[in-house]
Amino acid sequence: MTPNELKSLIRTVPDFPEAGIQFRDITTLIGHPLGLAATVRHLAERAKACGAEAIAGMEARGFIFGAAVAVELELGFIPVRKPGKLPIEIIGIDYALEYGTDRLEIDPGAIQHGQTVVIVDDLIATGGTALAAAQLLRQAGATIDDALFVIDLPDLGGAQRLRDASVEVSTLMEFE
Ligand code: PRP
Ligand code: ADE
Repeated sequence: MTPNELKSLIRTVPDFPEAGIQFRDITTLIGHPLGLAATVRHLAERAKACGAEAIAGMEARGFIFGAAVAVELELGFIPVRKPGKLPIEIIGIDYALEYGTDRLEIDPGAIQHGQTVVIVDDLIATGGTALAAAQLLRQAGATIDDALFVIDLPDLGGAQRLRDASVEVSTLMEFE
């Protein structure tokens, strides 16, 4: 399936989780067996071209695509977690969302110094989540040059924010 065909599998839910937000729901994409497989193949091709040595994905939706891409390329997966989940000494960062605020944490020992890590998530909106993940992974010694997303919401400027931080962005589809 092409990225354009995959776009038709995304469900749009108005006013979730709050009024004014057009929620781009991946549930319908990942529930489609060809849809999930094709999405992962497109992302994996791009991650390979970026020279990925490991894949990082953000909890929770980034785990679905990131872990699948890591399997496809036979690479390790680095979970970038929501707070309080990791049982060891962590490093963390607070960040703003399109709606609300949140925090990400990683195990710095999961990264080898200088390792090329490609970030994978379902969607980039303001870019706050991906920028926070890139900063954390860099703090732990990773080389972060690329981030891949299924969906871009270009009106929210996230991809540009990442490029301003020297992270190249590649996405499969856009929603205005
Ligand atoms: C969503 C999405 C991205 C992030 C994008 O995650 O999966 O990670 O928001 O928004 P941003 O570009 O403005 O930061 P969310 O925090 O809602 O968590 P979830 O994956 O657990 O649903
Ligand atoms: N995460 C941040 N903004 C979002 C949106 N509009 N739809 C789905 N997930 C999101």
